[in-house]
Amino acid sequence: MDASEVVSAELGNRAPKVSVRGLSKIFGEGPGATVALQNIDLDIGEHSFVTLVGASGCGKSTLLRIVAGLEFHTEGEVVANDGPVTGPGADRAMVFQQYSLFPWLTVTENIRFSRKLAANRGDFTSAEVEAASGRADALLSLMGLDAAAKAFPNQLSGGMQQRVAIARALMPRPPILLMDEPFGALDAQTREVMHDLILYVFHLEKTTIVFVTHDVEEAIYLGQRVVVMAPRPGRIDSIHNVPLPAQRSQDMKLSPEFIQLKREIVGRIRETSGMKTDLEMLEKLRQRNV
Ligand SMILES: Nc1ncnc2c1ncn2[C@@H]1O[C@H](COP(=O)(O)OP(=O)(O)OP(=O)(O)O)[C@@H](O)[C@H]1O
Ligand SMILES: [Mg+2]
Repeated sequence: MDASEVVSAELGNRAPKVSVRGLSKIFGEGPGATVALQNIDLDIGEHSFVTLVGASGCGKSTLLRIVAGLEFHTEGEVVANDGPVTGPGADRAMVFQQYSLFPWLTVTENIRFSRKLAANRGDFTSAEVEAASGRADALLSLMGLDAAAKAFPNQLSGGMQQRVAIARALMPRPPILLMDEPFGALDAQTREVMHDLILYVFHLEKTTIVFVTHDVEEAIYLGQRVVVMAPRPGRIDSIHNVPLPAQRSQDMKLSPEFIQLKREIVGRIRETSGMKTDLEMLEKLRQRNV
């Protein structure tokens, strides 16, 4: 099956929430230009969880930023929630690779920020604002941040700041959640808790999630489909359906299906990343040191 057949087979009769067609992105011009993305086709159905993996520089963040409306594409078409993407929108929340909190607001104020804006615009009744503050408190607890509610971002560790950023993104119940290596800065235990938390939110709120990671195990554990991207030029190499029950549990990571898929995906990334050349370079370095 080629990539486009896998895409349509998986979607069934669900309408795509995100549809990318013939997408290309070139940074710069002339000989110094970088083809960050070339001819990307991808449909992501409503309430589906797609993870993107691939070597550094293969265009994962660029693709996510284009869907978020933060970057313009050079060619092709991007549709989200039935409309062409022309800029950022409240229907698409993004968690960035680097922490991105408002430094002058406390943890609680950061999480409530979007609701506060909406309340100021008069979009909510006071009862709705109250319900929203209950949600903010619940997210704060879920993220293990109760004790840090009144702290400012510069008083928090990197992992804590990232958890605040995730809570803030979840606050307005976005139909589409775009996450760029959101758990990269977390320790292994917190990361496992966050995995189960994000799956819980996914099932509860029927969110559509596009999730970028370097960690193949994380990509398989969370995703219904894993999209492997390749660099130079950035493109889709292969799409893998994850043969695990919807209700995940940590022990599934030890199952033969999981291990087999991990081996396959790691193999694709290794083959497309040019890593072999790097190892040869290291060998040369070693020889020079002797
Ligand atoms: N603003 C920019 N200007 C010029 N080139 C850029 C810009 N942003 C990204 N690129 C280039 O586009 C390519 C894809 O970058 P991108 O950040 O999307 O990769 P990535 O897959 O997210 O990598 P990583 O795994 O390291 O985060 C890279 O070659 C990068 O140098
Ligand atoms: Mg990136």
